[in-house]
Amino acid sequence: MPDILLACANAERIPLADDSVGLILTSPPYNVGLNYEGYIDNLPHDEFVEFNRQWMAEAYRVMREGGRAYIILKDNMIWWFREIAECIGWVFSQKLVWCKPNFIGKAGRISGDWNYMTEDILLFRKGKRTPMQSGFSTTHNWFLETIPQSNFKEGRIHPAQLPLRLCTRIISRTPGEPILDPFAGSGSVVKAANLLGRAAIGFDIVPSVVNRAAIRLRVGGKDGSGGLAGLPMFSAAHPDDDV
Ligand SMILES: C[S@@+](CC[C@H](N)C(=O)[O-])C[C@H]1O[C@@H](n2cnc3c(N)ncnc32)[C@H](O)[C@@H]1O
Repeated sequence: MPDILLACANAERIPLADDSVGLILTSPPYNVGLNYEGYIDNLPHDEFVEFNRQWMAEAYRVMREGGRAYIILKDNMIWWFREIAECIGWVFSQKLVWCKPNFIGKAGRISGDWNYMTEDILLFRKGKRTPMQSGFSTTHNWFLETIPQSNFKEGRIHPAQLPLRLCTRIISRTPGEPILDPFAGSGSVVKAANLLGRAAIGFDIVPSVVNRAAIRLRVGGKDGSGGLAGLPMFSAAHPDDDV
């Protein structure tokens, strides 16, 4: 079985060495007031943009040359998110779309606008484009997931839990290891990586969230953290910390 790690950490200070991960697949908070146990999902807009700038800079630091980052975002974020990522050094590659059977927020119905039933996935890379690999999925730029997130067969343990199949489809086509999800939530990305035989690291700032994900993945001890034997790049502290 490949190595996986789940631990509590702040994405604004990722506790990994420079150039140590090969692929990122993540979905940051959307700032829509979700009830995230201990995390406030309702920041003033400027602070929210600054938060995203900070963690994307950290993601860039820990990413190896040639690696890709898939960032799943709410549609109203993509307009400024691409710009902040490019200022950091990320190269924008493509926009993918995840179509889902349930909507985010209130239904538009007659009085509002359209029901919001897609999420955008911005694909960035660090440096030159590297070859993709053959996965078990199709290669078009949209993903149709037909199972509502409220009806996960294996149980729903997080309000923003990604469907496993979405993660396996993206990971199976994209090279790079270990895979990092700095906003791991339920651990779907780490679990999908594990199912595909790939090493993965998931961080989340909320200890109880990490614990539940660790139970779902059956890794680690009582504190919810698991080991990543054989990957020497991991250090528990941020490289700037004086320890
Ligand atoms: C959109 S959810 C991710 C859900 C995840 N993709 C899944 O499949 O379950 C965002 C997660 O980011 C976590 N979070 C919020 N701020 C954070 C930070 N500064 N560092 C790390 N995690 C954070 C929240 O606790 C939440 O679990």
